[in-house]
Amino acid sequence: MEQLELLELLNEMTIDEKIGQLVQLTPDFFSEGGEITGPMQKWNLESEKLYQIGSILGTHTSEQVYSIQQDYLKKSRLSIPLIFMADVIHGYETIFPIPLALAATFDEAIVEKMAELSAKEATEAGIHVTFSPMADYVKDARWGRVLESNGEDVTLSNALTKAYVKGYQGEDLSKDKNRLASCVKHFIGYGAAEGGRDYNTVDLSDIEIAQNYLPPFEAAIDAGAELVMTSFNTVHGIPSTANTSLIQKILRKQLNFKGVVISDWAAVVELIAHRVAEDKKEAALLAFSAGIDMDMMSDSYLSNLKEIINNKNKEKLDEAVLRILNLKNKLGLFEDPYRGLTKKEFDKNKNLRISACEIAEKCSVLLKNENILPLIKNQKVALIGPKAKSRDILGAWSWIGDKEEAVSLSDGLQKKDIELSVLGFQDGRELSDKNIKKAVRLAEGQDIVILAVGETSQETGEAASLTNINLTRNQEKLIMEVSKVNKNIVLVLFNGRPVELSSIECFVKGILVAWFPGTEGGHALANLLMGEANPQGKLPMSFPRAVGQLPYTYAHLSTGRPQNEENKNQKYISRYMDEETTPLYPFGFGLSYSDFELQDIKFSKKKFKGNESISIDVTVKNKNMNSGSTVIQLYSQDIVTTVARPVRELKKWIKIDLLGHDEKRISFSLTERDLRYVHPNLKSKVDSGKFNLYLGFDSLDAKIIGTVEYHESN
Ligand code: GLC
Repeated sequence: MEQLELLELLNEMTIDEKIGQLVQLTPDFFSEGGEITGPMQKWNLESEKLYQIGSILGTHTSEQVYSIQQDYLKKSRLSIPLIFMADVIHGYETIFPIPLALAATFDEAIVEKMAELSAKEATEAGIHVTFSPMADYVKDARWGRVLESNGEDVTLSNALTKAYVKGYQGEDLSKDKNRLASCVKHFIGYGAAEGGRDYNTVDLSDIEIAQNYLPPFEAAIDAGAELVMTSFNTVHGIPSTANTSLIQKILRKQLNFKGVVISDWAAVVELIAHRVAEDKKEAALLAFSAGIDMDMMSDSYLSNLKEIINNKNKEKLDEAVLRILNLKNKLGLFEDPYRGLTKKEFDKNKNLRISACEIAEKCSVLLKNENILPLIKNQKVALIGPKAKSRDILGAWSWIGDKEEAVSLSDGLQKKDIELSVLGFQDGRELSDKNIKKAVRLAEGQDIVILAVGETSQETGEAASLTNINLTRNQEKLIMEVSKVNKNIVLVLFNGRPVELSSIECFVKGILVAWFPGTEGGHALANLLMGEANPQGKLPMSFPRAVGQLPYTYAHLSTGRPQNEENKNQKYISRYMDEETTPLYPFGFGLSYSDFELQDIKFSKKKFKGNESISIDVTVKNKNMNSGSTVIQLYSQDIVTTVARPVRELKKWIKIDLLGHDEKRISFSLTERDLRYVHPNLKSKVDSGKFNLYLGFDSLDAKIIGTVEYHESN
């Protein structure tokens, strides 16, 4: 539709029809079924209002979308097509590993591919928009939603957030019906919930927001994200959904975002619970004035906006409606309200599953391997634990992914040339002592014991905050009891967050982090355990020694009393009395069956200015016969700064594949843009001065390779 036609349509709309476009409801107002991802309220909406709403979220099938759209277009006066949205977070029906696992690949191309494949399945089921990527910066594994994040590094998150948007949206949404519009979320600061308790208070300085929370959103918007979702939490004491400064000054003006701003589920009506609104009418007024275009799953707008609209703000209403009509138009919905929708049964799309397996292999992180992996053909292997046969491996946002379709670890290992015995327990964190005794009996005499443990999907994701992030008492007991009869234990961990492994790490010889690996998890893990695939994942979030260390990031500030080798046991320094300061496994860490080494590091120069760049060349050598991939990471430390800066920050990474005994020379390029940071005036710029550079295979391993000096061009 031409812009002029849209304006004509807008002029034809009554105020009720305009307000209706700003409302999003679940499908159960129209039909059976659909995904409920938040608290449900009951409203008695008369039919006329129902056939004026603008959007549906949470459909599960193409038939459901088809029948709702068909019925709606028949009964709505102007037949403005509904736009369908859903949480296609890491797959629609074929489920890929969770986003935190995808972040472990340090590979934008993999994330982009996953998003593209997800979009294909979702658009065939009639979905137009996905509430993804989640761009929240996180440092606290007590918060269950770390599973949806890109982890604790902003630079990595910027790159991956951009890749999600590119994968979902492609080059041109209007030309490719198998692409989704991307809604980046949750604007802003949701991951900083105090105590890691979901929906809790967030209080961040302007500098912290600008430095660590805004950049991934900026990356998503620069990549063309069509929607932004506001977060449940407060920012500077005002809930994001009613925060005019956040939406108008930062999102609209500073980030130049022109797309649709949608609230999170019921976040408009929850302004009453926040006690910043007395009733739904005031909640509607606050959200509308702040700039919320679409009210997700509350009737605040539907029942109150008409009273609020007047000559002063009716233009604001038209602007909001036009943004939604423009989005529908960009998706081609006026020409084809059934865009992308195919009624074919999912053929359990083989190539999607092959991709899901290949991607899952790349997400897994090998944390420990004392010559126990890979398994050897014909070994006697016992696979034991609550996750051994579990198909609950899709994760908390696995949309219509069917657990029964998922390949369990047992399914995967059954196909391998080993003498396998399996003892699986019911899902859930608790094991009975009887089962533990059974496990110990089976473990005796085995060459290898694989203990498959971890979280259930319901124990991760939204509204799944924990005060302890270790394995359950009986899962830890299982490990300790089995280790009494067999030392050759490999732990396979199914987790949506970093898990505290300190108390059991010494009882096992191998640890493979499976995350929630998705539909093809069992095949991928079996390939990794057998050495048919080589682990290459690197931790996107540190695994702490203790939950008491949280919130934690490797990119922490020095403090005025930094701990170092010399003073580490002194009293008056920044440390814990009962635990080391470092994490058990650091950001960027991950082992391989290969043995990589860095050699012959050369700088193009040590001083640069203006727009010049510096190159750092290094030879990466694979010292054994196992082909594999690794991520070489370049960190910097800005030695003296105006605002305190981290002890080190990831600036660049290069992922490479190397055949056995092969080597490759690679080159990093640094410019002043890479070294900028946010100053008190909230502007990001680099200071003239010196920078220490570190190179290595993780945030702790990286060794200093030199000091460079930058001067702003005189
Ligand atoms: C949920 C989540 C949000 C999701 C939305 C729609 O409460 O906070 O991430 O996209 O509701 O399901």
